[in-house]
Order: sequence, then C-alpha cells, then structure tokens
Amino acid sequence: MAMDLIVRGANLPDGRAGVDIGVHDGRIVAVEPALEAEAGQEIDASGRLVSPPFVDAHFHMDATLARSLTRALPASGQSGLLFDGINMWDALKQRLSAEEVVERALTYCDMAIAQGIQAIRSHVDVCDERLTGVEALLEVKRRVSGYIDLQLIAFPQMGYYRYAGAQQHLKRALDMGVDVVGGIPHFERTMADGTASVSELLEIAAERGLLVDMHCDETDDPLSRHIETLSRETLRLGLQGRVAASHLTSMHVMDNYYVSKLIPLIAESEIDVIPNPLTNIAAWGDNNGSYPKWRGMTRVPELREAGITLAFGQDCVMDPWYVYGSADMLEVAHMGSHVAAMFSDDQVRACFDAVTVNPARILHLEGYGLEPGCHADMVVLQAADPLEAIRLKATRLAVIRRGEVVARTPAAVTELSVPGRPNSVALTYRPADPDNA
Ligand code: FE2
Repeated sequence: MAMDLIVRGANLPDGRAGVDIGVHDGRIVAVEPALEAEAGQEIDASGRLVSPPFVDAHFHMDATLARSLTRALPASGQSGLLFDGINMWDALKQRLSAEEVVERALTYCDMAIAQGIQAIRSHVDVCDERLTGVEALLEVKRRVSGYIDLQLIAFPQMGYYRYAGAQQHLKRALDMGVDVVGGIPHFERTMADGTASVSELLEIAAERGLLVDMHCDETDDPLSRHIETLSRETLRLGLQGRVAASHLTSMHVMDNYYVSKLIPLIAESEIDVIPNPLTNIAAWGDNNGSYPKWRGMTRVPELREAGITLAFGQDCVMDPWYVYGSADMLEVAHMGSHVAAMFSDDQVRACFDAVTVNPARILHLEGYGLEPGCHADMVVLQAADPLEAIRLKATRLAVIRRGEVVARTPAAVTELSVPGRPNSVALTYRPADPDNA
C-alpha cells in the first residue's frame, strides 16, 4: 500500500522500540517494525520517542498572555494567590475587546502547536454581560480547528450564584455553542450555595447532554468538601464518566479518615481529576503566610491507586494568576512528578500519561492514539523515552497533524570549546556501559 508518510524507527511510550508508523489519508494505517512500503515522505525517528500529541485538560485561554495588561490597572496585586488573581482579572476583563482576546489566544495557540499540544480544554469566563471571552474563543475554536481541538467550558469565575446574572450568562454561553458546563462551588458565598450550585449545574449538563468540569475545592480549607456533593450528584443523575473535578487542593489538608471514605466515592462516581501542578504549588499550601508550608496539590498517588483517571493541566500561562508557563506539558508533568513525589519508572510513566492519553480520555477525544485507525497526530521528541522527555522537557523535533508536519524545531545541541572534550554535547545522556545505567 502506498503511504503518504512513514515515521521510521520510533520508540513508543509503552516501551516498544524501532517501530515504523505508516500514515495514509490522515490516519495511521500501520504500526510495526520494518514496514515494507513506499511513502511520499519519510521521517527518521530512530531512537526517538514518538508520542501521541500533548493534551491540556485545564486552561484559561481568555486570560492567557494578559499578564502585562494587568500592570496598567489602578490596584495591581501580583501576589500569585488565587483571590488577587481573580480581582485583577475582574478589573481587566471590563476593558477587553473580542478582537484583543482573539489575538492573544491565537498567539498562544501558535506556542501550543509548536510544543506539540493538539487539544486544549479551556474555561471561558461567563461572568460578563457582553460575553466577550465566549464570543472570542468560539471564533478561535473555529480558526484553530485544523491543528488544535479546542473544547470550551462555560465557567462562572465570580460564582454561579454570587455574581448577578451568571446563571443567565452561563446558559447563553451554552446556547452559543460552548461545550462543557463549569462551576466554582468553593467561591460561592456559603457552603450551602456551593452545594446548590453543584446540583443545579449538573442538572443543566444532564438536560443538555453535556460534559462537566468544575473548579472544585481549590482552596486550603480542609472543610471545603464540594467534591463529595459532586460525586453524589454525578451518581444521582447518571453522569458517571462525564464529570471532571479540577484542582481539589483542599484534599491535601483534609482529615485522613474522611479522605478514606471520599476517594472510594470519587472512584464509584467515575469522576476524573485534574490537578494543575504549576499553579497549585504556586498558589496553595501557603499556611496563611506562616510556616510550615505544605504542597498545594491534591493526593495524586492515592487517587491513581483507586483507579481514578488523572490529567495534569497547565491552567495558566502569563496571566493574572501565574507569571510563568510556556505551553510545555512536559514542564507540567515534571512539576507534577515532583509535587506528587512520583519518581519510580511506573509513576514517571503515569506522569507522562497525565499529559497525553489520560486528558485525551477526559476530553472524550475521538481517534486519539498511536494505533492503526487513529488520527495521524503525533510528536517526535528529542528523547528516547517518557522519563527522558520529562527530565529534559525535550525539544519537539516534529509535530504531525493528520499526517502533515505542522511544526519543526531543530535538535538542541550545544557546541563546546573546552580542552580534551568532544566539541558538541546534547543532554540526551546515554551511558555506553550498561553497568553505569
Ligand atoms: Fe483554572
């Protein structure tokens, strides 16, 4: 069979090595060693990891790259803590135009595809009479659809009940074509309002046949237990496998006995969990400015142990909440591995899955993976395996979408001029002697 493209000699994330991947008509048609076929184009990936694309399950594209705009605000608190960020964003969004949001989002999508991200689930703030962000990101979704699957969540940033009009705005956003129902129960005025918001939002999702992804218990308050309601209501409405809980940072400091009951409930309701290691470690675990400080991320190894699907999200890039970020899901996995203290081979592989196959599953992406029949979407990395990819935040040598190379980056190699040593060095260290491995 004539192929459009063959990627030769790939290492796959599951450990298979020296595999050829044949592509025809935008789909993978063969994954096998020494594929005997002709192709219009070949890519030599010998010894390189070829991965399905990176997927970011939690992002805020309406606010991304807006960090510099906040400097013009009258009171600009840049503490990095959540509530400062929310206040800055609220002041900023009144000044935004749809054109400006589209421009920033498209610039971000350039970075994302260059870094091998081909699907993003982005929250979009609906606490805005004009729905500027919704209008803008629906336009962006259409414009990037050839290279990034953009899924949008109607997110009541200032509270579904707390912000006047949010209930109507959220429904309007869904009517306009936003895909997923969001929420922020811990930011409502009372625990009771938070509980009620979870029930009402899940009912909206059930009626409309939509997925759900809530910011849930993103706080250091051990008594923030909206995940319990989210799980119970998911079961009541038969939404198992369709609901994600983002953050869950409060679980870090919850009572252990309570958590021993909670995790089985989350598993029973088939809720997916999306921690965001970069922003969680930056914004939480602060102990109210005192010491000792703790790690502001949920209980990842224990949730994984219970069979719950986990994805690490990026959350923010250069926005009112977070000063860093570079559309690099390997950086996200690297931080996730550290904050969750997951360093065994199996755990490192789980961190890689948390930015690839797991978020693809959470987003319900069709045709994702490196098997025959899947879309021919993949990334060739300057690394041999998932551990090396995370360790080096490896260069994306080629990003392939539907069988076409859409981004290329030269391999990172440094020229050395030091006596008695080779004249170039790459950080892809490969011990020649197995005893040193
Ligand atoms: Fe978020």
